[in-house]
Amino acid sequence: MKRFECQILVTRPYLPPLDEFKNGLEEVWSNQWLTNNGPMLQRFQKELSRYLGVPETNIALFNNGTLALELGYYVMGLAGGEVITTPFTFVATSHALMRIGARPVFADIDPETMCLDPAKAEKLITPRTKAIVPVHVYGNVCDVEGFERLGEKYGVKIIYDAAHAFGVFSRVERVDRVEKKSIGFCGDMSMFSFHPTKLFHSCEGGLLVFKDAAVREKLYELRNFAIRSETECVDVGTNAKMNELQALMGICCLRKMPELLEYRQKIYEAYEEVFADCEDVKLVPHSQNKAYVPVLFKSFAIRERVYAELKTCNVFSRRYFYPLLTDFAPYAYGNGSCPIAEDLASRVLTLPTYYGLPLDDVKAIAENVKEMVK
Ligand SMILES: Cc1ncc(COP(=O)(O)O)c(C=O)c1O
Repeated sequence: MKRFECQILVTRPYLPPLDEFKNGLEEVWSNQWLTNNGPMLQRFQKELSRYLGVPETNIALFNNGTLALELGYYVMGLAGGEVITTPFTFVATSHALMRIGARPVFADIDPETMCLDPAKAEKLITPRTKAIVPVHVYGNVCDVEGFERLGEKYGVKIIYDAAHAFGVFSRVERVDRVEKKSIGFCGDMSMFSFHPTKLFHSCEGGLLVFKDAAVREKLYELRNFAIRSETECVDVGTNAKMNELQALMGICCLRKMPELLEYRQKIYEAYEEVFADCEDVKLVPHSQNKAYVPVLFKSFAIRERVYAELKTCNVFSRRYFYPLLTDFAPYAYGNGSCPIAEDLASRVLTLPTYYGLPLDDVKAIAENVKEMVK
């Protein structure tokens, strides 16, 4: 069993070359502009629009993903209603609902993709349902066609928590070409998180992508206290503005995206190679961006043992997403309603992956895991 000298954490943020960041800082200094829709933020927005293949009129930046979600839910009119969502996610998906006075209703997940199952969600739709919030867990794409059908059939909004799905694209076939479009351009709205634990980051940050360009002005106002002019405040807004240093970090990291994606792919393949002949460790295969490396074990006891023993080797994996949301006090009313999610949450472990993690270390971690499950 290999014990690593330095700690290997489940992830590590990419940091651009310091000189690149310093050049940008000089620009910030000469602009004398630190926040409030500054020039760096506007550049970041333009570059994101190009990268995602989504018009600039249909995106808005925020200081983190949670506030982006909260404001997104609010402009979509979810306050006071029920929203069907998954318990197999990070707490922010539901916290943002609760904070605007919407009630999460938990439906079970698909055992393959581990994302919300549209058939299970449909069974819970009532006249009180205002929206469905599926999550592209680990960058695995939800059944977007299934949810689109539900949106049309029942007149409910479809809002994706795409926190994990930056760098995931769908193919759009045109007569003369194939276009790439970000997975964020599905449903009524999607949110990407730019937290440093994510594949792509801006120190902290969040992005909303929306179908209806008319909500953009409202979001711009809400992220700045809902102040419309020197003499008008039109709603109860908040402070959710991305600042210039965050935008600069985002610009620097965006340049690196192709390499960041390519490297994660290599890491995934290295794990895959070692686990190929091991029936007791099943890699969850569905993500395009390989943002995470989730593996499933045969039982809760084995997962817990591997998680603990890896720590003794100086490797810090994470039990994303365990406990389930419905195991936490604010959502305990949903406890017991999602048996597939309960089972998978008790057996899943995400292994280290990040740009620069040596492939030999990846193989050694995988060999250790194999040894532990024997
Ligand atoms: C699924 C999911 N939703 C929402 C968030 C919240 O994003 P942020 O940390 O940018 O507020 C995260 C991660 O942090 C997440 O993993």
